[in-house]
Amino acid sequence: MTIKQKQDLSFDELDELVRPAPEVVEFEEVANKMVSRRGFLSGGAAVGASAFVMGSTLGAANAMAAHHQPSRLAFDMVKATTADTITLPKGYSWQVVASWGDPLWSKGIPLDTTTGGTGASQEMAFGDNNDGLAFFNRNGVFVLAVNNEYVNPKTLNANREDGKTVTADDVRKSKAAHGVSVMEIAKYDGKWSIIKDSKFNRRITADTEMDITGPARGHELLRTSADPRGVVAKGTWNNCGQGKTPWGTYLTCEENFNGYFASSDDSYQLPEELKRYGVSMSEGRYKWEMADDRFDLSKEPNEPNRFGYVVEIDPMDPTSRPKKRTALGRFKHENAEVTVAANGHVVVYLGDDERGEFLYRFVSKGKYQVGADNSDLLAEGTLYVAKFHENNRGEWLPLTPATTGMTEADIAIHTRIAASKVGATTMDRPEWVAANPNKVEAYCCLTNNKNRGVKPNAGGDATPAGGPNPRVKNKFGQIVRWEPSNEDHTANDFKWDLFVMAGNPAVFDDAYAGSANVNKDNMFNSPDGLKFDRNGLLWIQTDGNYSNEGDFAGQGNNQMLVGDTETGEIKRFMVGPTKCEVTGSAWSSDYSTMFVSIQHPGGTWPTGSTPLSSVIAITREDGRAIV
Ligand code: FEO
Ligand code: CA
Ligand code: CA
Repeated sequence: MTIKQKQDLSFDELDELVRPAPEVVEFEEVANKMVSRRGFLSGGAAVGASAFVMGSTLGAANAMAAHHQPSRLAFDMVKATTADTITLPKGYSWQVVASWGDPLWSKGIPLDTTTGGTGASQEMAFGDNNDGLAFFNRNGVFVLAVNNEYVNPKTLNANREDGKTVTADDVRKSKAAHGVSVMEIAKYDGKWSIIKDSKFNRRITADTEMDITGPARGHELLRTSADPRGVVAKGTWNNCGQGKTPWGTYLTCEENFNGYFASSDDSYQLPEELKRYGVSMSEGRYKWEMADDRFDLSKEPNEPNRFGYVVEIDPMDPTSRPKKRTALGRFKHENAEVTVAANGHVVVYLGDDERGEFLYRFVSKGKYQVGADNSDLLAEGTLYVAKFHENNRGEWLPLTPATTGMTEADIAIHTRIAASKVGATTMDRPEWVAANPNKVEAYCCLTNNKNRGVKPNAGGDATPAGGPNPRVKNKFGQIVRWEPSNEDHTANDFKWDLFVMAGNPAVFDDAYAGSANVNKDNMFNSPDGLKFDRNGLLWIQTDGNYSNEGDFAGQGNNQMLVGDTETGEIKRFMVGPTKCEVTGSAWSSDYSTMFVSIQHPGGTWPTGSTPLSSVIAITREDGRAIV
């Protein structure tokens, strides 16, 4: 049956079609199960259940036409492209604000792309692979805090043919290219640039001291020879997404922290708990163990337990010590979406980006009060994990000693194990969560999961297709959203549906065509970065397959789209350069600039020769606010 024929069916006819024959249309049946019964999407039938099941090209534009609504996405959609540049709608322009290796101080050394620089030059410069970022404005002083997630060995160690770490200085450089770059920026002659030597400029790296707070502070599993009390960790790395608190701090999230450890002793017995987190004994990704014993498991077995957390940083106080917030759990943290519930408790939504891992919520013990000292609200609270039911309802399951049989410290350190114990729903790699500022609801990108319906997660939890993860071997991803009961982010139950299932309607006519608001013009794969603007429009960034071939034909490079969560309409706003990931975004206070991270470009952007991860600024040529 063709897409066109399916479009012509009524809901009942379609239901009849899919239900008796699940072996033929298995995808469609699971898609039908997860469709909202309450109609989150106000576009009506065109974006309702039947269209979702059809995965048709009947899109949100049709729905709006039927309802005579003008689009809130007031720009000309850009076409998918494989161009090695930034592609924007007519009337918008971009510039580079900061690239890997840019010195933050005048005594720094500009990047030598033939060598990738040295440890000393990197310590004075913007880190590599910029990811999540936030914009801070205090009395007209503008500061950007930017995550530097990891390094690309071939560019970092450009003086080694294979890009491998060879010397202790290579390790020093690699550690300094990780972490967070904090820098003052200003706009002169219409162009944003780094203010060198600003007192706010700061590099936080894999060697920066930070305080361990929360339930795991001082626990025996966090004690090392350098820190026998287990209270001061050294550094942060693999900083992926971020968060921003109402009290003006920056949250940086440690994601794939596991790949940095190795064991020089083959007889070392790797604990099961570390295996759950993917720690292994073979050579570390960047061989840091070569120059620093704390990355050698047989010498410092507890060092990995000090990573995998959310770290809180005050970007406006360069002398402040970052704080690891163990109360927010230990896993492969994507971002930390902070919202204040109506009752004043701080709620932080957190994804664990691994196939078949979980979606979490933290609720602070204390309450946020404007003007009060809120600086330790993230030190204490309760962690919950999401359980989704097939009937579009869900619940947050508390992770406590009573529900898990584990101590509070153990829950903070082995959060994945605690979540498995309570029977949380295994997810298709939860990436960023975004909370709507204008409505009590939140969204999470489930980027893809080739193991869905194929094999369990690392804890042995089954991953059947269903609920918000409806497609076996999910290659395109989807965005789930939930609406807490009673408009209360601290409520323990919620309604959910899928805002979009990505897909390719040019190649597939089953559920892999995507949901009704996906068509041949706006299609994409692997949603990842996610952020709401002040008007409640949802900015979606992708980190997926950019081959533009086969199942992904016609989808071009990674990109940024905007969704209207009321109508379901989605339009492509930007396409990134060759092989990059588009990740992380922030607005200037007046919304005239959107800062976006372009990570690991793989052509010649932006220099014309060496590709450099960079933060760009997007503005309108008429100078007006973007949204
Ligand atoms: Fe660093 Fe899950 O992305
Ligand atoms: Ca990501
Ligand atoms: Ca990703």
